[in-house]
Amino acid sequence: MPIVTAPRLAIIVVAAGSGTRLGREEPKAFVEVRGQTILERCLHGVLDSIEPAQIVVVAPASHLATATRIAQRVAGPASDALSVVAGGASRQTSVAAGLAALGAEVDTVLVHDAARALTPPALIDRVVRAVRSSGTGVIPALPVSDTIKRVDGETVLETVDRSELVHVQTPQGFPRAELDAAYAAAAAEHTDDAALFSAAGGRVITVEGEARAFKITTPWDLRRAENVLGVSTGIRTGVGIDVHAYDEGSPMWLGGLYWPDEPGLAGHSDGDALIHAICDALLSAAGLGDLGTRFGSSATEYADARSEVFLRETLALVDGAGYAVGNVAVQVVANRPRLTGRRVEIETRLTQLLGAPVSVSATTADGLGLSGRGEGLMAIATALITASA
Ligand code: CTP
Ligand code: MG
Repeated sequence: MPIVTAPRLAIIVVAAGSGTRLGREEPKAFVEVRGQTILERCLHGVLDSIEPAQIVVVAPASHLATATRIAQRVAGPASDALSVVAGGASRQTSVAAGLAALGAEVDTVLVHDAARALTPPALIDRVVRAVRSSGTGVIPALPVSDTIKRVDGETVLETVDRSELVHVQTPQGFPRAELDAAYAAAAAEHTDDAALFSAAGGRVITVEGEARAFKITTPWDLRRAENVLGVSTGIRTGVGIDVHAYDEGSPMWLGGLYWPDEPGLAGHSDGDALIHAICDALLSAAGLGDLGTRFGSSATEYADARSEVFLRETLALVDGAGYAVGNVAVQVVANRPRLTGRRVEIETRLTQLLGAPVSVSATTADGLGLSGRGEGLMAIATALITASA
């Protein structure tokens, strides 16, 4: 989205709810889905839409600074057209707070739930186009696929004709002046902006919604979002590389084994580059970042840790993200040590630790580069993981 100083479009992203039904300690918009907050994922979709827009994030008063940091990180240089304001006790008051922050030039407003974290930008574009061409309120709608019954307690009264029903999503778009007037006139709480707009006499039409724009409400929805973000086959690969200089003064640990007659490797922990590369490959496959961001190179509790500790904790993270390890392959590029004699020993040890096949190979670098010149050792690993659920 290009930067403009006075956009005609505004998108209000409401993120001020507490997420009672999700049941997490932090407000819902700040819960992570595969390593990125719901708010951040939603804003990526918003910023990837076509038309330049003023973006107003409505956040809980307790989280204004965090929301601002997230918004600026996503928007980069476009953050000029972005502001963060505090929301209210109901969604409706939160939207009203967003409306109060709009620039004078804005003639079209979209209101969007942050909780619809995976909304495709194309849906935003579709709603904007429809508001401009119709001059009415516009909401995304999808057909109802379940049979719907009217009930009184446990008793079924009748089957409702579902062809007359749709379920609706956000973003919901409106001509700005009419939406402002509708909010000013609102006498009751409405469950969405279109209801409030209709109550004030406004006309609302539908455009086709998107399955991916579903709202994350319950823990099950969060799981669904995580699964949608995984590849559809449930199989993922990752890559990891680690390089360490030789250090004559340190013991050599490589592949979880002690090498008595070899110079050691410099670095945090025991310098076991082979295991570090495997950890990075596993984290990479699960979309969980890397060793540095997960364990921190300055974390003192790991300063002298054996690298198996990282491997175990990495495995727990991957498992926690819902994956099982398929296999791991790792290649060492180094003049020393010569792996041939102990290759099977390393494979056996690491296969036991990971509970999945690990294959190890080695090569030299033909005298070139840091490993060729004998300055250090490099390990390159790939990992394949599968969704365990
Ligand atoms: N919202 C808001 N201000 C409120 C309540 C809700 O900005 N006072 C926002 C939420 O952050 C969310 C969207 O409105 O992005 C849709 O609301 P909902 O899914 O109901 O979120 P919560 O109210 O946070 O969740 P719950 O109802 O489970 O508490
Ligand atoms: Mg709510």
